Amino acid sequence: MAKARAYTNIALIKYWGKKDTQLTLPYNNSISLTLDQFYTETEVTFFDPQQLAHDQFFFDDQPLPMSTKVQRVLDYVRHQTGSQQNAVVKTRNFVPTTAGLASSASAFAALALAASQAADLACTPKELSIIARHGSGSASRSIFGGFVEWEAGRSDTTSYAKPLMSKVDFPISVIAILINHKQKAISSTQGMQNSVSTSPYYSQWVKSSQKAVTLMKQAIQAKDIPQIGRLAEHNAMMMHATTLSAQPPFTYFAPQTIAVWQEIQAIRRKGLSCYLTLDAGPNPKLICAKHDAAKIVAVLKQKFPKLHYVICHPGPSAQLIS
Ligand code: PMV
Repeated sequence: MAKARAYTNIALIKYWGKKDTQLTLPYNNSISLTLDQFYTETEVTFFDPQQLAHDQFFFDDQPLPMSTKVQRVLDYVRHQTGSQQNAVVKTRNFVPTTAGLASSASAFAALALAASQAADLACTPKELSIIARHGSGSASRSIFGGFVEWEAGRSDTTSYAKPLMSKVDFPISVIAILINHKQKAISSTQGMQNSVSTSPYYSQWVKSSQKAVTLMKQAIQAKDIPQIGRLAEHNAMMMHATTLSAQPPFTYFAPQTIAVWQEIQAIRRKGLSCYLTLDAGPNPKLICAKHDAAKIVAVLKQKFPKLHYVICHPGPSAQLIS
């Protein structure tokens, strides 16, 4: 038995499209920041087939049908060890009540670590990142803390994340805003597939993201928070342009996502540096300096008092817990 905790990450340069859907190999490298506020804890116990006839999955204490992605991670670990044992997986998401910001990134990073440890598989962080990638692409990055880059690679063993700056020694904050946690969006897997196969802008997205990776690494090394924000916002809008230009077009923006974005532009005109990024859902994340975060939340609260705001900071790598 082993238990692990992993934290979510926000992509600053995004992964949006698989060139190999079986192996989850992305078209471009991506860069993220692991966050300290949202995490998943997962416990995995292996039993002999006589004791447990098939894998079982519990989410927040509720038994759920086994998901294909969880199954894929367990099968991958069993394949590595040659084991025939079945697993009980118990997982719990820790997010502020009603925040609805749970993410597959923390879930599959925690599962990769707990399952490999429970199976006595001695893994390097790089190997853990590869295992997590089989659950979800973004999970490959949540094995590490701080700023992380996922190398697209060309094969199972060359596509993995690595730390860019694990201990973040400059004051960057990310404000997560909950607009809507009920809306059933197009899943990221489906959405990225639609963009890849139908958007005429897709190849431009890949080219521009590869360039942005280089610029983002420079901005991180220079600890230049406004430049990190500018690059992240531009890259997010490029990604969302591939959804608007897909056939049929679709979007993850909700009306309030646009309203928040316009308010962020107004906040910038007033001299505060703040930039918006958005994944496959309507909830924006804002990038700003730590000393501006409370001020920015106060301005936004006046305009959008019903939204839920969580100020996050750089978070740690995935870890075993007792
Ligand atoms: O790893 P998935 O399947 O949850 O896809 C993540 C896609 C984005 O969140 C939109 C971008 C990213 O790089 O995390």
